[in-house]
Amino acid sequence: MRHLMSPLDFSVEELDQLLDLANDIEKHPEKYAHACDGKKLATLFYEPSTRTRLSFEAAMMNLGGNIFGFSSAASSSAAKGESVSDTIRMISCYADICAMRHPKEGAPMVASAVSSIPVINAGDGGHQHPTQTLTDLLTIRSLKGRLNHLVIGLCGDLKFGRTVHSLVRALARYENVTFVFISPEELKIPSYIKEDVLESSHIPYKEVERIEDVMPVLDILYMTRVQRERFFNEEDYVRLKNFYILNNKKMKLAKEDMIVMHPLPRVNEISVEVDKDPRAAYFRQVQYGVYVRMALILTLLEVKVC
Ligand code: CP
Repeated sequence: MRHLMSPLDFSVEELDQLLDLANDIEKHPEKYAHACDGKKLATLFYEPSTRTRLSFEAAMMNLGGNIFGFSSAASSSAAKGESVSDTIRMISCYADICAMRHPKEGAPMVASAVSSIPVINAGDGGHQHPTQTLTDLLTIRSLKGRLNHLVIGLCGDLKFGRTVHSLVRALARYENVTFVFISPEELKIPSYIKEDVLESSHIPYKEVERIEDVMPVLDILYMTRVQRERFFNEEDYVRLKNFYILNNKKMKLAKEDMIVMHPLPRVNEISVEVDKDPRAAYFRQVQYGVYVRMALILTLLEVKVC
């Protein structure tokens, strides 16, 4: 039995297979409509979510399966003090697979150690968000045609942004990918990512503060919101929340085939005027998230569709 805690749990070859499966689902959804008949997915969300929880639920429903779960710690017995380990022991009796989001780093890993069903990390604190990374990889491969030979700019809250941490780890495995980290001093990418993931493998990166300085060289601009819920004080959040606002004026500096991605939700960091730009890919990214989660459920449940 396999779990998914980190995008690195899959080899590059396994990831290719998963993304191929997602592309096949996109082209032939009818082939998969009963692939999970009689199976149940539990969504255990101790933290708020719109996309991840609902796209997991849509994915399982598209496969013919059933769903149940909770959408906040307050509406589960966690509010009475039940541990994650005990909760997953119960859920293992009810469901075939589960997706867990938790504010504490490592909570899904704790669950996986005692679970008898596959556990998917649907985001743990500021640590990792592997299914967002699968979504991002599918989006990039589908829209750019490759996962190598890319210059990717990651902009905004690179300190707390778990989607950024997971995506850097995943893309670092492909040839000739250059990272440009665009952030204010206080929200820089953590040193452990620079040292353990990039420098140790001689992967090029640079850090800048002004988005305008690097727009012309980017193949992908990955915007992120400043994460209010991870700040220790409101004053710092208010000072930094509007540091970057992508607008049409800045988009004029970019390549004609650059794509703009965002894991969403957006707050102010992308002006709504950019939504009409054909390079804005963030709503297409959401659709790819459903296909890739369908492919992931099939893979972890070892369901084969001919
Ligand atoms: N991208 C993402 O994780 O969105 P939600 O927080 O709405 O799930």
